[in-house]
Amino acid sequence: MVKIGLIYKSLTPRDFKVLQAIEKGMGRYEYVPLELIEKYARIPEEHIVLILSKLHRLKLVKRRTISGYKAFRLTYLGLDMLALNTLVKRNALKAIGDRIGVGKESEIFKGIAPGDVEVIVKFLRIGRTSFRQTRRVRSWAEKPIYDWFKQSKIAAEREFKALRELSQLKALVPTPITYNRHVVVVEYINGVELYRRPRLSDPMGVLKDILYTVRKAYLEAGIIHGDLSEYNILVSVEDEKPYIIDWPQYHYRGEPMAETYLRRDVEYILRFFHKVYRVRIDLDNALRYVRGEDEEIR
Ligand SMILES: Nc1ncnc2c1ncn2[C@@H]1O[C@H](COP(=O)(O)OP(=O)(O)O)[C@@H](O)[C@H]1O
Ligand SMILES: [Mg+2]
Repeated sequence: MVKIGLIYKSLTPRDFKVLQAIEKGMGRYEYVPLELIEKYARIPEEHIVLILSKLHRLKLVKRRTISGYKAFRLTYLGLDMLALNTLVKRNALKAIGDRIGVGKESEIFKGIAPGDVEVIVKFLRIGRTSFRQTRRVRSWAEKPIYDWFKQSKIAAEREFKALRELSQLKALVPTPITYNRHVVVVEYINGVELYRRPRLSDPMGVLKDILYTVRKAYLEAGIIHGDLSEYNILVSVEDEKPYIIDWPQYHYRGEPMAETYLRRDVEYILRFFHKVYRVRIDLDNALRYVRGEDEEIR
């Protein structure tokens, strides 16, 4: 496993300058010519070459020789370093700890924010992994990495903004702290994922709390989660409150497929609770509630 924190600590301000120069060049080139890196970083050639070989050894950059010229691009790990650097400078993050999860399109680390607050650092990784899916492998090969970076950045911003709005509405979601590039920092929830089927003293109460958040999101923020499942719900250890996480793929109310997504989200959760906890709410009643047609669940 890659020790992101250790790599981060081994980097000097000059290393960051070179990473930044490559990032800037990637707005124009898939692989940025050495000459341009030099120009952007304003570091003499003999130093740049050493720095680049260090960055290459740490797998922060990829190297290619194009008709005799050396050129470089960032890897996701290189982009991670730039985001971490910004977050640290912004005083949003003090340390990064263990990786606690790898999802379809993300990696999740624990972190420490100033004041010793525990946080979650989510790195979006669209376009990476899932090599079993041939469709992905093909698109991975077709698309330059910069496009994937861009998509991950858009996803991070979306997730941050959805969480900000939802937490202002006092919905049960982790409070977001900040985001940069493809990385979102959110409050750490000391909880158990619902897929682990934790013992619940009041499963009906937990289910109703979930529907309450779905309702707030739909009625007040105008959004639908779109991937609601036992994998994206954390039940707080302290007070059994269910937090809905993982929002980047949300849909807007009013989009052509919105009602289909809403129904799927709600139906899925109702089924899970019925199967695992033996509590039942009628789908149409739940939908009337989340759509605001009923004030309470009948
Ligand atoms: N705020 C949080 N507090 C505690 N654990 C979290 C938090 N956010 C995510 N996690 C952990 O990371 C896992 C994956 O997070 P998630 O946002 O669902 O990303 P993805 O499914 O895209 O990998 C969760 O199942 C949970 O174990
Ligand atoms: Mg998830």
